[in-house]
Amino acid sequence: MRIGNFDIDVPVLLAPMAAVTDLPFRTVCEEHGVGLTVTEFLSAHALKAGAQKTVDKLTPSLDGRRFGVQIFGREDEPMMAAAQMAVDIGASLVDINMGCPAKRVVAGACGSALMKEPELAAHLVRIVRSAVPDDIPVTVKHRAGWDKLHRNAPEFACAMVEAGAAMITVHGRTRTQGFSGESCLEIIRQVRDQVPAHIPVVGNGDVVCLDGYRRMREVTGCDAVMIGRGAMGNPWIFRSVRAIEAGEPDPGPPTMDERIACFERHVGLIFELKPPTSPKLFHEIRKACAWYAKGLHACNQFRKKAWTITDPDLLVAEARSYFEFVRRRRPEPEVGSESAPELLAESPEPPAVISA
Ligand SMILES: Cc1cc2nc3c(=O)[nH]c(=O)nc-3n(C[C@H](O)[C@H](O)[C@H](O)COP(=O)(O)O)c2cc1C
Repeated sequence: MRIGNFDIDVPVLLAPMAAVTDLPFRTVCEEHGVGLTVTEFLSAHALKAGAQKTVDKLTPSLDGRRFGVQIFGREDEPMMAAAQMAVDIGASLVDINMGCPAKRVVAGACGSALMKEPELAAHLVRIVRSAVPDDIPVTVKHRAGWDKLHRNAPEFACAMVEAGAAMITVHGRTRTQGFSGESCLEIIRQVRDQVPAHIPVVGNGDVVCLDGYRRMREVTGCDAVMIGRGAMGNPWIFRSVRAIEAGEPDPGPPTMDERIACFERHVGLIFELKPPTSPKLFHEIRKACAWYAKGLHACNQFRKKAWTITDPDLLVAEARSYFEFVRRRRPEPEVGSESAPELLAESPEPPAVISA
């Protein structure tokens, strides 16, 4: 898929998610085949002011891989400055968030609140466009609309494209829905129909498996799919999409060895990339433990025990012994075998090892 003047080789993107899509997780997803990752949304105001916590999140992907930076705001100067900062660290695109439903964001009339002010939103696209070099696409991510009476995504998307947006991502829920109900495929289809054909439209919302990916592509006609929650602890979803897009069979869920290797890689990146003094470090390790243990035999018991541990190294050691326990408990399922999820699923048997 082409965005502005560059291509991504597989039409699937990792959704920007605050406090989730940090550099370690983006890297894991890249290594599992995602087409493009984007930073979590960053306040343009905070970036311009040099707020360290926000500036620390402005991180380029490793090994020179392409990445996008998402910014939010509603004032010219901070938006322009933030976009330039994104370009300075090597971003391949600057995405403007016009979909965040969070109270603190819409209270400042940013995020999804901009869907109620399409003229200002278009102005922001124009000024960000003017602040970055011609070869850096400016893109927009928005929702279906503000509420069920104002589902203006198709005309809103067209206005953003008219102002210079080179790609539109639509999450098919309204702002008032938050994350409840379902993401509406029909509104994404309408956006795809109405936006000029050379501008890619990315469908987003509720895709957690290959069937969901296919359905999003088929029903909406979108050019690519953006996956958020479905990738948490499941970067293999990108491996599956990449395989089927290459005309190969779906490799299916991970083997236990692959799961353990991914856990090791993820926590290794957390230790490597987060400052040892960061209060986030322990939280991130804990999150990785929960993600990769989810759905495995006796994972609740593991979590209960793990959550009493307060030292990151001890927590990782506990996770290692738990994963090893699960691995030894059953023979390794064949990659892609139908029975793999069943073999690894939680069973009522009590855990034998982890209480040791
Ligand atoms: C924890 C969390 C944080 C999010 N942060 C952002 C964000 O920073 N920027 C953004 O555009 N969307 C954000 N979103 C919305 C997602 O990008 C995505 O639109 C939404 O989760 C629907 O996709 P999904 O069903 O694949 O998760 C966030 C969602 C979650 C769950």
